[in-house]
Amino acid sequence: MLYTILLLVFGVQFFIPQLFAFPIPDLYTGFSKLNLPVPGPFGPDSVSRDPNNQGPYVGVSDGRILKYNGTDFVDFAYLSPNRSKQLCDGVTNLSLGPVCGRPLGFSFDPIFGYLYIVGAYGGFYRVGPQGGQATLLATSANGVTFNFLNGCEFDKLRRVVYFTDASLVYNFTDASLGIPAPPGDSSGRLLEYNTVTGEVRELLRNIPRPGGPAVSSDSSFIVYGSFTTQKVYKYYLIGPKAGASEVLINSLLGFPVKIKRAPEFGLFWGTANVIVQQQPRLTNGYGYKFNSQGDIIILKNFTAEYGNAQINVVQEYSDVIQGATLYVGSRSRSVNYVGVYTKWR
Ligand SMILES: *[C@@H]1O[C@H](CO)[C@@H](O)[C@H](O)[C@H]1NC(C)=O
Ligand SMILES: *[C@@H]1O[C@H](CO)[C@@H](O)[C@H](O)[C@H]1NC(C)=O
Ligand SMILES: *[C@@H]1O[C@H](CO)[C@@H](O)[C@H](O)[C@H]1NC(C)=O
Ligand SMILES: *[C@@H]1O[C@H](CO)[C@@H](O)[C@H](O)[C@H]1NC(C)=O
Ligand SMILES: *[C@@H]1O[C@H](CO)[C@@H](O)[C@H](O)[C@H]1NC(C)=O
Repeated sequence: MLYTILLLVFGVQFFIPQLFAFPIPDLYTGFSKLNLPVPGPFGPDSVSRDPNNQGPYVGVSDGRILKYNGTDFVDFAYLSPNRSKQLCDGVTNLSLGPVCGRPLGFSFDPIFGYLYIVGAYGGFYRVGPQGGQATLLATSANGVTFNFLNGCEFDKLRRVVYFTDASLVYNFTDASLGIPAPPGDSSGRLLEYNTVTGEVRELLRNIPRPGGPAVSSDSSFIVYGSFTTQKVYKYYLIGPKAGASEVLINSLLGFPVKIKRAPEFGLFWGTANVIVQQQPRLTNGYGYKFNSQGDIIILKNFTAEYGNAQINVVQEYSDVIQGATLYVGSRSRSVNYVGVYTKWR
């Protein structure tokens, strides 16, 4: 709260570097779980509220997007026209992935309420506020077919959606089976879908396995992490560096997945996963809040509540009753809930 006031009064750029010199206590101390249906899917790796502050919505392993109605997660949308509830609900068989679908990231258009969705098997979709079967909007850019779409974000000023394809040579199935990516793979892309013209553009290619992007509040730049380099990058949308990408955070403690905007102007939440043991794999998952200069102002350790699960997304909302709510998403098989951390005023 203290730094929220400082941010509001003095602005991010002036105050954060000073504050960063002091250890910031963990303010997000309340913890509870919103459980997914049982028996059922796992791996809610995207979590977000709609423009009316309802939800959260989650994309899960059996191909559904579910909406939390206050007491339960209920069906909201699905990607594949061939998806049958009987065959797919609760399914854990990866070979059925292409039939059942797998939403890996989504973002709401705050004005029209459409939900834009990226599918793990290479489709870019949209569904209306009533949900149901999503419409396939694109499967390729620049003549190159999408392979492993893993995150997206709506830009309300430009009315475009930014999204990432993690790799052209390594896919979601192999990643889920724990098969390592080909060494040196840097075939990832940063892409843009124009919601007005329907055009898809390639903003950047040859990225080493990018995770889901976030756009700054003023739409001047995009940030995205690289799984391989364990760095966060800043891609300029305007100004003298427009079209160029540079390192924003040089050395994370582990591999990042998605980045999302925090409620405060100029701040973001990223994730980092530290592999503490290979066989069997043990992971410690973290979230970090950072500013446009790349200063990390809060590091949050999720290991006590998430065990060895990989953390994919941290999405924060300001709340009237609590100070703020953090939703935490994970792709791991052991995670059949959305973790909710609360910060009290
Ligand atoms: C949420 O959905 C469940 C299952 O359909 C239903 O039983 C419950 O009444 C709903 N809750 C609200 C608040 O709408
Ligand atoms: C998974 O689904 C595939 C395709 O339908 C089927 O051939 C296979 O037997 C299934 N595997 C298991 C373990 O059920
Ligand atoms: C979905 O069904 C259609 C028609 O039955 C078929 O052509 C298509 O290959 C199927 N797609 C998948 C992903 O199974
Ligand atoms: C994923 O890639 C492997 C090759 O590494 C290929 O055998 C498999 O068919 C691909 N799966 C899908 C669903 O594209
Ligand atoms: C995060 O928490 C885990 C489990 O409580 C602990 O083993 C690990 O050392 C912590 N990481 C840091 C950087 O303190």
